[in-house]
Amino acid sequence: MEKDITILGLESSCDETAASVVVNGRTLLSNEISSQIDIHTLYGGVVPEIASRKHVERVNQVIEKALSDAGKTLDDLDGIAVTYGPGLVGALLVGVSAAKAIAWARGIPLIGVHHIEGHISANFLAYPELEPPFICLVVSGGHTHLVIVRDYGEYEILGRTEDDAAGEAFDKVARAVGLGYPGGPKIDKAAREGNPLAIPFPQGKVRGNAYDFSFSGLKSSVLNYLNTEQMAGREVNVPNLAASFQKAVVDVLVGHAMEAVDTYHYQKFAIAGGVASNSALRAAAKEACEKRGVGFYCPPPILCTDNGAMIACAGYYEFMKGTRSGWDLNAVPNLALGSR
Ligand code: KG4
Ligand code: ZN
Repeated sequence: MEKDITILGLESSCDETAASVVVNGRTLLSNEISSQIDIHTLYGGVVPEIASRKHVERVNQVIEKALSDAGKTLDDLDGIAVTYGPGLVGALLVGVSAAKAIAWARGIPLIGVHHIEGHISANFLAYPELEPPFICLVVSGGHTHLVIVRDYGEYEILGRTEDDAAGEAFDKVARAVGLGYPGGPKIDKAAREGNPLAIPFPQGKVRGNAYDFSFSGLKSSVLNYLNTEQMAGREVNVPNLAASFQKAVVDVLVGHAMEAVDTYHYQKFAIAGGVASNSALRAAAKEACEKRGVGFYCPPPILCTDNGAMIACAGYYEFMKGTRSGWDLNAVPNLALGSR
């Protein structure tokens, strides 16, 4: 029998300090996440300097907790995987520095992981039987990518957002209607009480690539609607607005994704990233896949938002391919998917 490979995954690209121990890329032993949401809520969004400082304060405790929850020590690790981009440079640096220090001190491999590769890999933790190839829609606060996952670590990007990311649109609209930060979960909740057909917001239109997305026009429509209602002295029905905005986003996300599924004839479709925990998106994608007889995969919400487990999983597959980062590994805020 082959030896088990135990990887510690670290994530600190935005406002979560997270560490997790994963065995053989699929077995989750611990998943420690320290969220800074409460602090950033005071400012209506993530403040990069505060994020970096909080990561520094918390990273060691989070790593210790992840190891103790897993019943492991640093001696049991075969490698350390860490998000090195994309993200906030100061935030990324904290995880990268911690990972380097441990890897150097223990003489074990260091593996830099792309944040989006991590999000996609959350599906491997949720579905032990899932293997590439498949199509994956990655929707988070910073990214909106429609990707063909050809193999572990091999991606072809079919489409991406031309402006705002899907999560960013949720956050901006939520702020405009006074729901606060982070907006996604709040819009999701408010939308449950609303009518998605109440306000006909336009779907984002793009000129070139049929798989690209655009959300800034939709965001402007929502802001214009709010303005018009305010000027007319009418009270805005927040649940109806949330449901109608959410429908416009979900329709375009699922529409483009299913166009890709139909065109490329993949039998499996997955979603990933923070917005993949949206209940309307999950329901619409599931229904569209069932209609086509295509397998649908979505990680539980705790693996959709930022976590260390997805980084440990992606790191395991990179480790098995022989990927090793040097001691010069640095934070790359605008790292492109598929680059090393
Ligand atoms: O993946 P993630 O934790 O961090 C990034 O890599 O960006 O995603 C965070 C984003 C935020 O924009 C948040 O509002 C959104 O995911 N989000 C949601 C939901 N939960 C989180 N958006 C819509 N519906 C949700 N239930
Ligand atoms: Zn993320």
